[in-house]
Amino acid sequence: MRKQIVAGNWKMNNDLKASKKLAIQVAKKVKKSNLKGTKVIIAPTFVNLERVVKATKNAKIKVAAQNMHFEESGAYTGEVSAQMLKSIGVKTVILGHSERREYFSETDEMLAKKVNSALVNKMNVIFCFGEVLEDRKSGNQEKVVESQIKNALFHLKAEAFKNIVLAYEPVWAIGTGETATPEQAQDMHAFIRQTLTNKYGEELAESVSILYGGSCKPGNAKEIFSKKDVDGGLIGGAALNADDFLAIVTAF
Ligand code: 13P
Repeated sequence: MRKQIVAGNWKMNNDLKASKKLAIQVAKKVKKSNLKGTKVIIAPTFVNLERVVKATKNAKIKVAAQNMHFEESGAYTGEVSAQMLKSIGVKTVILGHSERREYFSETDEMLAKKVNSALVNKMNVIFCFGEVLEDRKSGNQEKVVESQIKNALFHLKAEAFKNIVLAYEPVWAIGTGETATPEQAQDMHAFIRQTLTNKYGEELAESVSILYGGSCKPGNAKEIFSKKDVDGGLIGGAALNADDFLAIVTAF
């Protein structure tokens, strides 16, 4: 059985007070809702990670970083390493988000190195990818997604995928209010699983969780999550409100 996961990517939102408040609200609601098997992750901004880890110490939620550098240490002003994240109790990192690719010029090559560094440090990775609108309009979405996955992940040994969750986030659906239809999500997730099967075999492909991200809301989560190859969601805007986020968490 694949893990069902709902992760909230808070992006560059919430100062310390707001981060602690939201984390505690989410933790309380998760406890109350007595979830059966769904893993809940929240990803605050770097500066608030340690305090959120502490505030949710006994809760059934995990805390993830939104990014990290691929080097362990050194002259990389403004950057944060896997080892540093681990030292404050963060064991999961989101890598390859389209906003990192677009605004901070992250390439597949850099992402492959980041994935390596996370895995060497025994961290879990939520690896994001997805096509832009032009790719979809020209029917190239599968080609683009396949190359993003291959370039950043296919140098890895099969065992590495025990620590990797994939997140398909069509860029045209992020923060736009426009969601992929449940059928579009399912088609792409099935394609991603087939891509994994072709390289690593069916058993591995069937074991990897693939999340959907892009304007996932309480109103559409249930239908999207009901699809066979959708194992949960990576949530942006709706993760900033505890009630909305929990409505999505409990949508399975
Ligand atoms: P929205 O849910 O705001 O569209 O953002 C999705 C996302 O980018 C999650 O990483």
